[in-house]
Amino acid sequence: MSLSSDQLTLALSPRSVRYYDSIGSTNDAATEWLLAGAPNGSVVVADEQTHGRGRFGRTWYTPPQTALAVSVILYPDIAHLPQVNMAAALAIQEAVKVLGAEDVTLKWPNDVLLGERKICGILPEIARDSDNVARGVVLGIGVNVRNGFAGTALEASATSLEAALQRPVERTALLSVILFRLEHWLGQLGSAALLNSYQAAISFIGQPITLYAVDVTYHGVAARVASDGALIVRFADGREQAMYAGEVSLHSAGNTV
Ligand code: BTN
Repeated sequence: MSLSSDQLTLALSPRSVRYYDSIGSTNDAATEWLLAGAPNGSVVVADEQTHGRGRFGRTWYTPPQTALAVSVILYPDIAHLPQVNMAAALAIQEAVKVLGAEDVTLKWPNDVLLGERKICGILPEIARDSDNVARGVVLGIGVNVRNGFAGTALEASATSLEAALQRPVERTALLSVILFRLEHWLGQLGSAALLNSYQAAISFIGQPITLYAVDVTYHGVAARVASDGALIVRFADGREQAMYAGEVSLHSAGNTV
């Protein structure tokens, strides 16, 4: 079943909601709405995205009736952008746990994993006006609810909620819990509580990792997360370096997996 505009408006009240059966990217629609003056906390939801995007310009697939594709319009202090990302990741982790999933962890910087597989991606983008002035943030959230990954290149690395839980998941109800918890964590931007909770939710802190940055690969221990969102990697010689972007993979029994 497709999502319903009426049902979303009712469930997410008093937020302003724009729903599309099909759209290019909810982040684009939300940016346009933000620049036209959307209220804080407004949400754009789509049943299908034809040009959904992920980190590093990757394609994010949202076929009809399979997923949650949402963008939340926010006006935080831009200095808190990394913490908005943390707030979103924690909110989604909590909402997925409410569904009964147990092994839900975060992968720095912005993936939510169920077991070893990705269940959700987060894409926060700064919305800039024609003078390049930052006007706010569009927080894009994509949750795999019943996407099928069998036989695709993502089979080993992604899963969906219904496949993992073996039961139907109602997307509007899930979104409502995510937004409820997001509001809680957004109230904690800049706090030690937010940073500590985010760090505690990452499974590989204290463990050996490989970090693939744009053109360099680093091997070290994931020491901690800094308040600006950087992953602090400690090398064998004791030096530490703050990493702001990249893909992390874990070492297991001497191998990179
Ligand atoms: C990632 O893990 O690479 C981030 C994926 C973010 C996908 C969401 S779906 C809703 C919003 N609209 C988009 O085009 N992307 C984000």
